[in-house]
Amino acid sequence: MIAYNQAQEAVQNVAQQVAYAADQLQLHGFDRYYNAMVGTYVSTVYKSLNYPAFAHATNRAQTPLTSIEQAVMYTTLYGKSHFNRFNSVITQIMSNNIRTEPVTKTINFVDYGCGQAIASLALLSYLEQYVNCENFTLNFYLVEPSQTTLDLAVLLVTKMSSRIAANVTIHPYHKYLADFLEHDRETLAPADYSMHLFSNVLDIVEVQQQIPNLCNYLHSIEGKQMVIAAGPRYSSNYQGLQQLKKSLNNVIVKQDVANFSVESEIYSIRNNHWIHCSSYGVMMGLCFNNAQTAANKTELAA
Ligand SMILES: C[S@@+](CC[C@H](N)C(=O)[O-])C[C@H]1O[C@@H](n2cnc3c(N)ncnc32)[C@H](O)[C@@H]1O
Repeated sequence: MIAYNQAQEAVQNVAQQVAYAADQLQLHGFDRYYNAMVGTYVSTVYKSLNYPAFAHATNRAQTPLTSIEQAVMYTTLYGKSHFNRFNSVITQIMSNNIRTEPVTKTINFVDYGCGQAIASLALLSYLEQYVNCENFTLNFYLVEPSQTTLDLAVLLVTKMSSRIAANVTIHPYHKYLADFLEHDRETLAPADYSMHLFSNVLDIVEVQQQIPNLCNYLHSIEGKQMVIAAGPRYSSNYQGLQQLKKSLNNVIVKQDVANFSVESEIYSIRNNHWIHCSSYGVMMGLCFNNAQTAANKTELAA
C-alpha cells in the first residue's frame, strides 16, 4: 500500500511539473517549455524510466504512448529537434516575409498522429513570428490514438494559441488514422485553406497502408489544400513521403521531397548533459485545389 501511494504521488508530481511546463509554453514559447520538460525528466522521470524500457514499450516512439512519464521522455529525446525541423519546413514553404496586414481567413489544420502536437505548435510559433492573425479563425483537428498524448496536445495547443490574436478552436480525435478516415470524413469546417500536417508519422506501416484512403479523403475536401510533411532522414520516412506525393493528383509541388538539416540545442539523456546537434530530416510541401460546391462558396463569401 505504501509503495502504491508513493507511485501515485510520483505520477501526480510529474503531472504537476508538466502543467508548469505548459505554463512556460504560454508565457515564453517553445524553448522554455522544452527546458521545463527536460527539468521534469532530470528531476523525476529518469528514476522510473530508462531509454531501453521506453524504446521497447513504444517501439521507438512509433506506437501510442501510455503514460505521462513516457510523454516527458519523448519530449526530452525528440521534442526540440522535431519542433525545429517542422518550424524550418513551414518557414521554407510559407516564406519568412512578415505580413502585418490584418486579412480575414479561416484555416483548418489537421495534425495526423499528432502526439503532443509538436507540428501544430511549430505552426503556431510560425504564425506568431510572421503573420498578423487578428482576423484569423483557426480550427485544429488533432488525430491521435494515445489519450495521454492527445490530452497533452490539447493543453499545449490551447496554451500556445493564447500567444496569438486568432480565434482558435481545437477538435481532438482519439483515433487511429484508419478510424478517422472511415468515420470523420465530413468533419472539417468550410475554410479558405485546409493544411494537412504529417510530422514523423509517414514512416509508420499502418499509416502508409492508409495512403490510398488518405488521398481519397484529401481530394474530397473542398477548396485549397496544402500538405506539409517532415520526419527524420530514414528510408522508411522518405518512402512514406514519396508514396503520398505519387498518390495525390494534380498537385503543385511547393517543396519536393528533399533532405535538410537544422541545428538544435538538446538534452542528451545518454550523456546527461546539453549538446549542440544537427537534426537531419526529409521534407515535402504540396498544394492542390479541389472543386467547391455552390453551398460552400456562399458560406465563405458571407
Ligand atoms: C513518432 S510519433 C510523432 C508524433 C508527432 N507527430 C511528432 O512529430 O512529435 C508517432 C505518432 O503516431 C501515432 N500513431 C501510431 N500509429 C498511428 C496510426 N495508425 N494512426 C494515427 N496515428 C498513429 C503515435 O501514437 C505517435 O503519437
